[in-house]
Amino acid sequence: MASHNNESVKGKRAVVIGGGVIGSSWAALFLANGMQVTVSDPDPDVETKVKAVLKDATPSLTELGYNAPDAANLSFEADNSKASSSAYVIQECGPEREDFKKDLWAKIEGAAPKDALLLSSSSGITATKQSTSMHDPGRLVIGHPVNPPYLIPLVEVVPGEKTTKAQTEAAMTFYKSVGKTPVLVHKELQGFVANRLQSALFKECVYLVVQGVMTVADLDQVVTESLGIRWATGGPFLSFHLSGGPGGFAAFLQHLAPGVESNWKNAGDATFDDKTKKLLLDQVARAYGHTPYDQLSGTRDTKEVAVIGAVSEA
Ligand SMILES: NC(=O)c1ccc[n+]([C@@H]2O[C@H](COP(=O)([O-])OP(=O)(O)OC[C@H]3O[C@@H](n4cnc5c(N)ncnc54)[C@H](O)[C@@H]3O)[C@@H](O)[C@H]2O)c1
Repeated sequence: MASHNNESVKGKRAVVIGGGVIGSSWAALFLANGMQVTVSDPDPDVETKVKAVLKDATPSLTELGYNAPDAANLSFEADNSKASSSAYVIQECGPEREDFKKDLWAKIEGAAPKDALLLSSSSGITATKQSTSMHDPGRLVIGHPVNPPYLIPLVEVVPGEKTTKAQTEAAMTFYKSVGKTPVLVHKELQGFVANRLQSALFKECVYLVVQGVMTVADLDQVVTESLGIRWATGGPFLSFHLSGGPGGFAAFLQHLAPGVESNWKNAGDATFDDKTKKLLLDQVARAYGHTPYDQLSGTRDTKEVAVIGAVSEA
């Protein structure tokens, strides 16, 4: 696969606050782009955990055209302020709690260089909420990845009410330079965009399983054998533009949209009540419980790399 034009970030320091699931994955990607990386996390086992993720991520990253992440460029500093002092970019990946993120930015914005990019991976705590105790809230922007960030291209860039245009543009440029596909989200709505879409589809999935229309295993197959392939090659709007035939989206609106609208009216409802949870847990255990986590996630990575490669070369 193509190599990445990461000359503008090579040798610069990325500080990753929180070395959990998302932070360790960002660390792998930044290292694979030739950056210096400091992970700041009070967990005494963080080094072991991050290095394990580097090892797991290396085959995917090299297949995607990056260099293997070099652990010689990786350091650890539990003190968030000390870690931030030489940052070119800070990618926050700490606990998903408003108080944590608010206090963190108030604490480290002065410790970081004045022109450092301040980015948060948060899935739902907006930059506006996180920045209320900051001296300069214009500096903060959300860079929301999809797990695992070393692999999935999308980053949702979501400025807060006070985020400057320059900071938003700098975030977009930075993510492009490390090989990601940043997309600007113009409004700070709950769940941003990708998770809203995922949640809407998942509601219907849970409804269909609860109704006994399909098992968990069969439902997963319906998605991977149809919509997954379709949506990896063209999003919902392009897909329906093509579903209309040569008449395009206008023909879709005339012939197929009434059926879609009728399905909207009949859409299923779902909750995670105890009965639903038990049903789903039983079926997930039956479908996937016999395969170890590492094997499932390894297969996921191999297949996702193959999809990304095939689509980028088509
Ligand atoms: N897991 C996902 O699929 C996913 C996807 C996109 C975005 N996110 C977002 O990424 C962020 C991190 O999520 P995660 O799933 O990696 O969580 P996680 O629990 O795996 O990691 C959080 C890490 O923060 C560390 N931490 C606790 N206190 C800290 C402190 N004072 N300073 C630095 N680190 C500290 C913890 O030790 C832990 O390693 C959240 O904001 C979440 O919304 C998660």
